[in-house]
This record gives sequence, structure tokens and C-alpha cells, in this order.
Amino acid sequence: MAINIVVGGQYGDEGKGKIISYLALKDKPKVVARGGGGPNAGHTVQYQGTKYKIRLVPSGFLYKEAKLLIGAGVLIDVDVLLEEIEQFKVQDRIKVDKRATIIDPKYKQEDANSSIAKEIGTTKSGIGPATAHRALRDASLAYSQPKLEKYLDDTYKIINSYSDVLVEGSQGFMLSNLYGTYPYCTAKDVSASTICAEVGLGPRKVDNVIMVVKSYTTRVGNGPLKGEIDPIQAKQLGMDEYGTVTGRQRRVNPNLIFEELQMAASINSANCIALTKLDVKFKDAKGITEYQKLSKKAKEFIEDLESKLDVPVGLIGTGQEVYDIIDVRKEKGIKV
Ligand code: IMP
Ligand code: MG
Repeated sequence: MAINIVVGGQYGDEGKGKIISYLALKDKPKVVARGGGGPNAGHTVQYQGTKYKIRLVPSGFLYKEAKLLIGAGVLIDVDVLLEEIEQFKVQDRIKVDKRATIIDPKYKQEDANSSIAKEIGTTKSGIGPATAHRALRDASLAYSQPKLEKYLDDTYKIINSYSDVLVEGSQGFMLSNLYGTYPYCTAKDVSASTICAEVGLGPRKVDNVIMVVKSYTTRVGNGPLKGEIDPIQAKQLGMDEYGTVTGRQRRVNPNLIFEELQMAASINSANCIALTKLDVKFKDAKGITEYQKLSKKAKEFIEDLESKLDVPVGLIGTGQEVYDIIDVRKEKGIKV
């Protein structure tokens, strides 16, 4: 029984969807709550051979007993949300906070057409304009939408009545509006504290901050990326990836950027790293589920990360399927 929050430690697309769905199926939390951003997030989950692409419904939906919450801080595209609710058949267990900001279709237009949004290379989902209009206090909130009526609730009340909760953040630390590569970033902070506020949890409630780190670095959209390599070279390394929301090829640095990860670990107060796609970095790690079975090189890579960040690696992704994972949280002293 723990309150876990999962955040991204890089530029988004660290593989949060996979980690969240594993934690949901393994730990069986009573509640899975989504915070952060909005439909700019694209989480991909592969389970029993099926690939799910999710933008607003919590990625933990695979665990069928969990109540699913969308916090007040999430920006809602009503059409995207209603479509996903149908697609994932979660009508009976999803609630949306009545205070969540609605992305007006005209915000998406603004996001697609403004020169600054083009320069940043946004996902065109209306995130910047919706956040701005919320600050200007002329945005509509979820309670004004008859189409959402049956899903509306005070989600903070639900989340605060359980001690078995999985909170899912979105984007990644370096896309934070506060700490990331401004102005090449998203519209809000995406660190653990903000995600907590967005789902209505106070800081004393959280047991674990699980920071997801991919075994190499990718970025979609414009802005600085240290150590960036040529897209052809990235393909040769098997590190070519394409955005879930926009289909754009992601830019790649085949290594970790430690000074950025150290800042992310510090500001998120991470006490557990979930390292993903180790099998892309080390092909011989594919499908391994026991730490001892990893190669010496792979183990050294993990131990180096732990010592540089001073945070234990409690979860290690070794393939696309939800259960392609090494779970050493207990051995590392992380509350499960
Ligand atoms: P926006 O959040 O759509 O305004 O986009 C701002 C920047 O953040 C762009 O570079 C996007 O590519 C990036 N971004 C936003 N959300 C995600 C995400 O979930 N994964 C990766 N990049 C993202
Ligand atoms: Mg993504």
C-alpha cells in the first residue's frame, strides 16, 4: 500500500505509459489518477500483443478494478476524452474533476497558427492557449460541459480517501515551463509537486516519486538537445522513435545527460528511478526479468546512473510488453 507518483525525467516519451501500466497491474492500486498537461501527452502501452495509444485516460486503465481520475490541473479536449472513454470502455469507473480546464477548439487553431508555437514545435493540441486563458480566467471549466456531466466529480475527495494510489504525470522534466529549456518547453511545470497539486494531493501524502528515465535521450519538437546525433545514425542504433501524438521522428542523443537528470532528480525529490528501454541500449537485455541475468555492461550502466544521481534504480524495462521488466523495488528499500 503506497502512494506513488510517476514523472518523466527527460523530454517526455521516457516510457511512462509502460511503467504506469506495469505498476497498475502489479500493485493493484485502488485509484489511478492522471495529472499534468493534457492531450499533448501520448502514452503507448503494449499488453498481451495489443498496442494502446492514450492521451487523456490514465494509462493504468489496464487494471480493471482501479478507479480512474483526471485531476483539476489536466487540460481537457472533450472529443479526445469521450473517444478514449468509449475506446477503453472505462465509462463506469472514470471521473474528471469539475474544475479541469476545457481546451476550446479555437485554442487548437491558435496553437497551430501562432508563430511562437511553430517555432517551439508544439503538439498543436491547444496546451499553451488553454493555459494562458486559464490564467486570464476566461477559459471554460469541465462543469460547463453537458457532455461530461456524468463523469464530473470532486476528484480530490476520492484520491484523498485512499492510501493505495498511483499518480501519473506527463511530459518530462526538461519540458517544464519553470525548469526546462524555456521557451522550448510546454506551458506548465511538470515536476512531481505540480502534478500532486493538479490531482489534489498534498506533498506529505506521497510515499514514492518514481522518475522514469529512458536509457538514452530523445526529444520531439525544437529546442536544445545536447549530444544530438544524425537521424540516420539513430536508426542504425535502433533508437529511431516516432511521436505518439504527432508522428514526428524524435531527435536522439544515444546517451544520458547526467547534469539534466541530476537536476530532475533533485527537484522531483525522486527516490526511485524506473529505467526504460534498456534492451534498446543493450540488445542482450531483451526480455530479461531478473537483475542477475543482465550483462556486466548493462549492470555497470545502471550502477553508474545510481551513483551519479544517488537514487536507486528500482524498475528496469527490458522490452515493450508490460511484463518485460525487472522489479527490484523491495530489494532497494522502496515501499511497495
Ligand atoms: P505543447 O506541450 O504541445 O505546447 O508542446 C511544447 C513542446 O513540448 C514541444 O516541443 C512538444 O513536442 C513537447 N511535448 C509536449 N508534450 C509532450 C509529450 O508528452 N512528449 C514529448 N514531448 C512533448
Ligand atoms: Mg509520449
